[in-house]
Amino acid sequence: MNASIRDPQRRRLLQAMAMSSMALALPAWARAATAATAADAPILRPIPSSGERIPVVGLGTNAYGVQTAEEKAPLREVLRRLAEVGNSVIDTAPAYRNSEAVLGELIAELGLRERFFLATKVTAPDGDVAAGIAQMEASMRNLRTDVIDLMMVHNLNGAGAIIPTLLEWKQAGRLRHIGITTSNDAQHAEAAALIRAHPLDVVQVNYSLGNRLAEQTVFPAAQERGTAVLLNVPLGGRRGSLFARVRDVPLPEWAAEFDATSWAQLFLKYSLGHPAVTAVLPGTTRLKNLEDNLAAGRGRLPDAAQRRRIEAFWDALPE
Ligand SMILES: NC(=O)c1ccc[n+]([C@@H]2O[C@H](COP(=O)([O-])OP(=O)(O)OC[C@H]3O[C@@H](n4cnc5c(N)ncnc54)[C@H](OP(=O)(O)O)[C@@H]3O)[C@@H](O)[C@H]2O)c1
Repeated sequence: MNASIRDPQRRRLLQAMAMSSMALALPAWARAATAATAADAPILRPIPSSGERIPVVGLGTNAYGVQTAEEKAPLREVLRRLAEVGNSVIDTAPAYRNSEAVLGELIAELGLRERFFLATKVTAPDGDVAAGIAQMEASMRNLRTDVIDLMMVHNLNGAGAIIPTLLEWKQAGRLRHIGITTSNDAQHAEAAALIRAHPLDVVQVNYSLGNRLAEQTVFPAAQERGTAVLLNVPLGGRRGSLFARVRDVPLPEWAAEFDATSWAQLFLKYSLGHPAVTAVLPGTTRLKNLEDNLAAGRGRLPDAAQRRRIEAFWDALPE
């Protein structure tokens, strides 16, 4: 080390200068984030089985299966911003066209693998475990990682057959957490039975203000077993979007009581207000929408009475 930098005072001065020039190089929103107070900090919740804390707003990537540099550019910006939060869940699957490969490419390019909690999925159709193993090897290659933070059985497909293999891979350190997913109401009872039968770290399920059925089956099983709950289609999905129902409806003033300034924030905060829920996984391909969604993971969340008020408001809206 250079003699002058060994001087602690000089070293601190150089560090301070580097920090301030770095801060000046940051865009305005990032400078604001650097100056964030504790009240503005992202809310984190633990995965009960491991104690690992994840931000309550993650990212869904079922629209990341793109081809061209022009299509990849906005996705790179979304990932760059999300990396600043740290350890956010990025949810993908082999079924989302080449989404895994696009994520692997962009994350490697950004050099930010360590900043994300990567979650993907596997299936064992007709109980074909060898096919599931081949898929998981391909996911690791596509995502360019040796360890996947969360591997879930997609739509419960072959769950009974492949879960023992997932447990072995977890034991071997290739998977850090394991779980199951469904976005189909008709599978909720089966998902709850699997939660009770196996040591799963995570269940991913469809739940939102527009569809609260998981409260009756999946949530109680998860709470009983200490299983983390991640929500898919938290904005109602790409087709049955919750936004359609509020297109001409102003955001109620009382949304400010739980720090929601947009409909997306109200929808996501509503779900995060349920005590069974660990995190939401809104899908977005736009930086602007990511910023909006990230804001749902800061500030106050609605309590039980505020959630009832949101439900009453929603239920009274014309469909
Ligand atoms: N069975 C399963 O395992 C399963 C099934 C379905 C989904 N998933 C996972 O769950 C994730 C989320 O589901 P999803 O993406 O289908 O539905 P979603 O998150 O409910 O909604 C996504 C839609 O909302 C838009 N959007 C996002 N943020 C917004 C904002 N702040 N304001 C306005 N519009 C906004 C997105 O458009 P832009 O892209 O233009 O922002 C997109 O059209 C998926 O990406 C996937 O990772 C899993």
